[in-house]
Amino acid sequence: MLRSGAIGKAKRPVVRRAFGTMLAASCLVAAGIAIGQEPQTGSQPAAQQRRYQNMTPQQRAEATREFLGLGPEPDKAAATRGAPLFRRDCAFCHGPEARGATAPSLITSDLVLDDDLGEHLVPFLKKGRPEKGMPAFAAVPDDQLHDIAEYLHLQVEDVANRGTYRLLNIVVGDAARGKSWAASHCMSCHTAETFAHVAKRFRSPGQLQRGWIWPSRSGDQSLAVTAAVETPDSATIAGRVTQVSDFRITLVDGLGETHVIERRAGVEVRIHDPLAAHQAMIMTLTNEQMHDVTAWLETLR
Ligand code: HEC
Ligand code: HEC
Repeated sequence: MLRSGAIGKAKRPVVRRAFGTMLAASCLVAAGIAIGQEPQTGSQPAAQQRRYQNMTPQQRAEATREFLGLGPEPDKAAATRGAPLFRRDCAFCHGPEARGATAPSLITSDLVLDDDLGEHLVPFLKKGRPEKGMPAFAAVPDDQLHDIAEYLHLQVEDVANRGTYRLLNIVVGDAARGKSWAASHCMSCHTAETFAHVAKRFRSPGQLQRGWIWPSRSGDQSLAVTAAVETPDSATIAGRVTQVSDFRITLVDGLGETHVIERRAGVEVRIHDPLAAHQAMIMTLTNEQMHDVTAWLETLR
């Protein structure tokens, strides 16, 4: 499990920074600003980019590997085994190639970039972050989770070595079909008012899609996950959940005081998530329905 841990640890911070620079550089290219126009600061990425453009694809792949300080090549056999598992368990939220959909892109995830051989990813996947919409995959065997981790590393490589960051075109659905589907699936809780000019509130179709599937809780206290905890020896403690696991729960009460409560026998925890309905919806929504609804909402400007 720690085949190249030591090398990886030393290199990863560099990787992340370089990778960020590189993504920024390729975004410039994508936007068509780089041509004939020097960035005012940080000419280094521009120089790097020019060098990069004069290379053969083979040289480019090698240079990228070196530039990014990527560790040993991902295990292609494991990644191949991981691909269908990723499609089965993860693609729905993170996109077919982990480039992001309703859940964030995993290509630029620190957790993925910091990981070498599953040592961070596997424990993370077993626990998930259920309070943030990332399910736990406790029932998936370790070797399968390792294969998924390898698959993710290969995706990072693919993106890095392609040299440009391909943006997901997500407005591929049918707006009329989305509208009628939403009429029967969204209006039990929402009114037309929820959706008035909704597309204007998001900067891109990608953010719109993420925003409607998994509305942001930040800045809206009424959407916080709360819990009431009853312990055998004290009164009920209620508050906002800041951390929860099988073993303990951390709450901040109305006075701003933090309570860490062990979940031993006799402790009863009732969690209330205002977005539970959306989470349930994510689990049953098909890709087509998701794209259709986004296409419809995109027309509401
Ligand atoms: C139901 C939707 C959903 C599914 C299915 C799902 N994820 Fe996630 N995942 C999320 C969300 C939402 C987040 C962001 C959580 C947060 O904001 O902290 C996330 C976060 C992550 C992160 C952390 C990213 C970071 O840098 O913080 C990783 C890694 C990850 N998911 C991997 C996976 C893998 C691998 C699978 C399949 C085994 C998977 N996810 C399945 C919704 C999902
Ligand atoms: C069972 C109830 C329920 C259903 C069904 C439901 N939602 Fe929601 N939705 C909520 C709750 C609760 C919130 C958070 C409170 C709020 O912002 O209104 C929310 C928030 C939203 C938001 C964010 C609103 C904002 O002001 O930022 C959007 C967009 C949204 N939902 C879209 C949808 C769409 C599209 C559907 C159908 C595909 C849907 N919802 C189905 C309960 C529901």
